Amino acid sequence: MRWLRVEEAVELLRELCMRHAPPGGEGEVAGVLAKFLEGYCDSVELDLMGNLLVRIGKGGPRVMLAAHMDEVAMMVRWIDANGFLIFTPLGGLDPRVLVGQRVVVHSEKGPLDGYIGAKPPHVAGPEEAKRAPEIRDLYIDIGASSREEAASAGVKIGTFATFPPSFARLLGTRVMGKAFDDRAGCAVAALAAREASRMGLELEIYAAFTVQEEVGLRGASTAVNAVSPSYALVLEGTVAADTPGVPESETVTRLGAGPAVRVLDSSMITGREVLRLLERAAARVGVPYQLQIVPGSATDAGRIHLHGRGVATGVVGVPCRYLHSPNLVLDLRDLEAAVRLTAEALRLLSERV
Ligand code: CO
Repeated sequence: MRWLRVEEAVELLRELCMRHAPPGGEGEVAGVLAKFLEGYCDSVELDLMGNLLVRIGKGGPRVMLAAHMDEVAMMVRWIDANGFLIFTPLGGLDPRVLVGQRVVVHSEKGPLDGYIGAKPPHVAGPEEAKRAPEIRDLYIDIGASSREEAASAGVKIGTFATFPPSFARLLGTRVMGKAFDDRAGCAVAALAAREASRMGLELEIYAAFTVQEEVGLRGASTAVNAVSPSYALVLEGTVAADTPGVPESETVTRLGAGPAVRVLDSSMITGREVLRLLERAAARVGVPYQLQIVPGSATDAGRIHLHGRGVATGVVGVPCRYLHSPNLVLDLRDLEAAVRLTAEALRLLSERV
């Protein structure tokens, strides 16, 4: 497609990865996306949950493109007498991945650098040293030496902490960055929505950038009420376990082998007509795709497809390694193919009218 310049997709993804969007605090990312789609849409609104709803076109079947803006993060739940921040996870965080990471603590007076520490092994007893740490063993060190010092720096109960912004080109067509789950999906939804606006399809498209997915698909629940679509496509950064020590049958998806088309997870069994639509769209634009079954995972589609009398819903994922860690890796060819597949699926839906 003449319209998608890879460098442009990289720039959008980079900008999204330099922002913070803990569940319940997604405004920065909403701002970037609203600005990107400004010239291509007919209306922009934020609902009371913070979901960003961007409408393109009027008349014809209503289609929702959904991608969640939030990222896995942390929230301060206690400041101890020595100024260490005890936190609760927002979303699925692996304590083994957290130990030793830098974080940004979003105090009321501005961002603070911090470090996630755990009881050092030479202090832990031999039994304790053997077991993996749990979140409750961890704390954030911002350099404060007392509760009062932390408080006067603007930290209080409820303060968010996130992984630091990060984005880098790796070898070939691969990139590494923060929160590709789901900034990759946000980029795909925004780019596909823009292309749909250029194609002038007979559809009423809502790009819905949702909040609080990582804590239980909450934003999608109200976004789908606002849109009430007939069709929905959920765009995700999805698991690629194509790494050493993982048997081939457990890799789920591989980087560079095309976007994932989800068949089943814990929140939805994709309808056969939707699978056929996505497979036809992939064939029409000549991109590879990977059928994916992830019984242990859920997406916004889980809420969306149950709305009203049912919504024909599919999930298209960009394979990402190291999901829910501070740095994910994806292949730009998969991202580009996901945009093309999504835009073509919209075209097919509009031709059915
Ligand atoms: Co996600």
